[in-house]
Amino acid sequence: MASSEYHEAGTPPEGKRGQVIPPAGDGGYDECWYPVARSDELASASVIGREFLDGRVAVYRGESGEPAATSAYCRHLGADLSVGDVVGDQLRCRFHHWCYDRAGRCIEIPSGDAIPTGTQLFSFPVAEALGLVWIYNGTRPDTELPHFARSADDLVYRVADATPHPVDPWSLLTNSVDFQHLRVVHGLEVDIDYDAVAFGPKGLEYDVRFRDPKLGAFEQHVQVFGTNVIALSGTLMGVPLMTMFAGVPQPDGSTRGFVVTATDPQGSTGGPPSAQMLEMGEQFFLGLIEEDTPIMNTIRFRLDKVVPADRVLGRFLDYVRSFPRSHPSGEFIR
Ligand code: FES
Ligand SMILES: [Fe+2]
Repeated sequence: MASSEYHEAGTPPEGKRGQVIPPAGDGGYDECWYPVARSDELASASVIGREFLDGRVAVYRGESGEPAATSAYCRHLGADLSVGDVVGDQLRCRFHHWCYDRAGRCIEIPSGDAIPTGTQLFSFPVAEALGLVWIYNGTRPDTELPHFARSADDLVYRVADATPHPVDPWSLLTNSVDFQHLRVVHGLEVDIDYDAVAFGPKGLEYDVRFRDPKLGAFEQHVQVFGTNVIALSGTLMGVPLMTMFAGVPQPDGSTRGFVVTATDPQGSTGGPPSAQMLEMGEQFFLGLIEEDTPIMNTIRFRLDKVVPADRVLGRFLDYVRSFPRSHPSGEFIR
């Protein structure tokens, strides 16, 4: 049996019930890549506001086409920059037209006053991939952007919003290593070598074979990135199919999520065309989330009666507990 303090029944839970992991925001937020918007929500020369961690960010796309993300509140009087405008590659506050560059620096005040020293928004590391705009909680990303086992350049994909849940992202991600629930909640046959689940400092991976009674066999390589993303890459009935859930913590303690579904552009010989495959894969994955929803909407996690079948889940909770947290944007986004 792999090592974990949670393998042994009778280990008392740390803290009060429902807080087996300190709540997101306690000591910072996990240093992960978080999805904040679908790419198609961010037209050229547009800005949108998003709740993020315990605050709000402005996400925009300037004339360069590259997305940028800053803290949402103007350093002048605190207007929300997401109701401002994108001018060239700059973000302009609606209230008095102070302008900020992509690094968050105030570079123009139209009143003619000198720019006060340190007039700076928090500027997040940003990336765009798989139809999502991602921002990193931290000053310098030290972890790879979530991805499938195959290059996105060779895939077609679609993105859907997932039902929000009133739990931190790690709670939803326990699904990725809770093989018992896959059997009884989702009705899947699961063929997995528990000891082959490989944990790294900021991710984990394993191979698994599922069988769904209606859809047949899924051969999948599973990757968990940080504490908020699971990506499954493989085949369904021999046809390439990849699915990803990516969650982002919200100020009210809930998790907002997105689901990405991907396949080969051409479909496969003898298999359904790619559009049909994407539709089927997305519906299947969203259906799994719906089956979990009544549980995730009501759970208070506790760990004092875990059993050997929970052992990979126990390792996952150790991993989550030791995950680095920080909140460098905290004083800017609230
Ligand atoms: S509040 Fe933004 S320019 Fe005045
Ligand atoms: Fe589940």
